[in-house]
Amino acid sequence: MGHRFRAAVDWRLSAFLCALAAGVAGTAGCRSLPPSKPASQWTAQEARGARVFGQHCARCHYPTTTRGMKGPGLQAITRIKAMPSGAPPTDEHIAQTILRGRLMMPSTQLDDADLQDLLAYLHTL
Ligand code: HEC
Repeated sequence: MGHRFRAAVDWRLSAFLCALAAGVAGTAGCRSLPPSKPASQWTAQEARGARVFGQHCARCHYPTTTRGMKGPGLQAITRIKAMPSGAPPTDEHIAQTILRGRLMMPSTQLDDADLQDLLAYLHTL
């Protein structure tokens, strides 16, 4: 238990409290996030990144909501102040999370082209 368990529970708890607050009092007290860029406006690179996401990430993460699946929902992940772990949502931190894994998230090996495409896509969320 200890740290591994707590960290895994934290983002679920905050997503739950957020949903609860939204239900009780509209969006007050809950981050309201900017909408994701629609697929019709993606660049070629963003569209390639969406395919990488579909292959490697979609089984655990919803892209355009903050609702959790196996991992936290990634809506606006590059535009929020801090990721669920508290780390800043820089490309560097996100790339490290992907390549090294984090707690319950397994590492994913991507070549640099796929990684850059995926990061471009994550910026549309
Ligand atoms: C097998 C399920 C699984 C897969 C596949 C997966 N993740 Fe995750 N991801 C998780 C879990 C679980 C967490 C929460 C880890 C924690 O407790 O901090 C997470 C956390 C994250 C975070 C937040 C990190 C932070 O610092 O809070 C990001 C960003 C992320 N994943 C992106 C991705 C991307 C992009 C991919 C595809 C390359 C991916 N994940 C693949 C399960 C997964």
